Amino acid sequence: MITVGIETSCDETSCGILEGRDRILSNIVSSSLFRHKPFGGVVPEIASRHSLEQIDFVMKQALEKAGVRLGDIGLVAVTNGPGLIGSLFVGVCFAKALSYQLKKPLVGVNHLEAHLAANFIGAEPPERYAGLLVSGGHTLISLHEDGQTRIIGETVDDACGEAYDKVAKILGLGFPGGPVIDRLALQGDEKAFRFTKPRQASPLDFSFSGIKTAVLYLAKKQRRVTPRFRRDVAASFQTAVIGWLVDKTFEAAQSHKVRDIVVGGGVSANSRLRQELQSRASGEGFKVWIPPLPLTGDNGVMIARRGLEIFEAGHRDGSALAADPNLTIKGGA
Ligand code: KG4
Ligand code: ZN
Repeated sequence: MITVGIETSCDETSCGILEGRDRILSNIVSSSLFRHKPFGGVVPEIASRHSLEQIDFVMKQALEKAGVRLGDIGLVAVTNGPGLIGSLFVGVCFAKALSYQLKKPLVGVNHLEAHLAANFIGAEPPERYAGLLVSGGHTLISLHEDGQTRIIGETVDDACGEAYDKVAKILGLGFPGGPVIDRLALQGDEKAFRFTKPRQASPLDFSFSGIKTAVLYLAKKQRRVTPRFRRDVAASFQTAVIGWLVDKTFEAAQSHKVRDIVVGGGVSANSRLRQELQSRASGEGFKVWIPPLPLTGDNGVMIARRGLEIFEAGHRDGSALAADPNLTIKGGA
């Protein structure tokens, strides 16, 4: 079976084509990032307009690269939330029209669940696992068992990727902040600054707004923001934030007695996160699943993979499928 996955929840417009559960035939991503850079963040109207302009072309490219005709498609999967409403609309309307035209089933996919499912292209999902979802809009730890998903920890304020983006802005490093801070951190002194670990009422919850404010005060105190200051803040910030993420993830896995940890979302591209999770997992007998780098960001083929799971469990959506900017993880299939 050929599944097409359509993703337009934020600044990317992507179509991915998956054969069966495991073979990626194509995964075309058109990013509108260059259009948002002058504004220091994603501008919703620009993102949705970009998707509207690009979606048809991206789909054609995906089909061409995959060597597949429209008539070969057996299932249409589309992100229907969470995300920016205008952008989501573009993908959902396009997917509905495609499914209607082809007379093929349609399934709506939760973007966050798809980030984790990116790990299952080419591998059978574990029966029970803890999920760590780290993106520009979300930071949460989930527990997956008996076909159900439960959120057991989440941020009480900013998302982790958002904190990277805001700190980069304070340091004058442009947007998005994750990749540039990750790179700079490698050259800085991680002990130059100490950030206090926030305490939450619920031990698996996160908070990232305090560290962002701490960086803001540091930068204000500094008369001139030098390259060295930037490198040292980047290194100290990254050490703190990644340490909190890793500690809470293993705490969750230990307390819920799961051996598998599945990671996803844009921040899962972070070199320090990947390295720390892997080294702790091998030392403590856990298995960590992290997507290959091209599948860490928003892409269509992860939507196809999660859509197929939902379809195989017998679920179908119809023309009433709605875009929901606040869609929450419900899990199951
Ligand atoms: O999942 P994603 O592509 O989009 C959302 O669904 O939000 O995540 C984007 C986020 C941005 O905040 C970006 O700064 C962050 O992922 N990011 C990183 C890295 N690469 C991207 N954060 C830390 N380190 C990275 N290497
Ligand atoms: Zn995402």
